[in-house]
Amino acid sequence: MEPGTYWWCSCGQSSHQPFCDGSHQGTKRAPVKMVIEEEQTVAWCLCKHSKNPPLCDGSHAHLQT
Ligand code: FES
Repeated sequence: MEPGTYWWCSCGQSSHQPFCDGSHQGTKRAPVKMVIEEEQTVAWCLCKHSKNPPLCDGSHAHLQT
């Protein structure tokens, strides 16, 4: 990821995953801000079950399909 400010989608409704596109409006969910200072690889949570959002913590491995 390039340096910058990112807004991670916590609601799962965004069509621009893993980032917020405003689709959470009308829900109790809100995006999570993440500031990246230096270029780096980021493992964004895509399943929305991480206990360390917006980052993946491996929780997806324990989800039922
Ligand atoms: S669209 Fe999901 S938090 Fe904004």
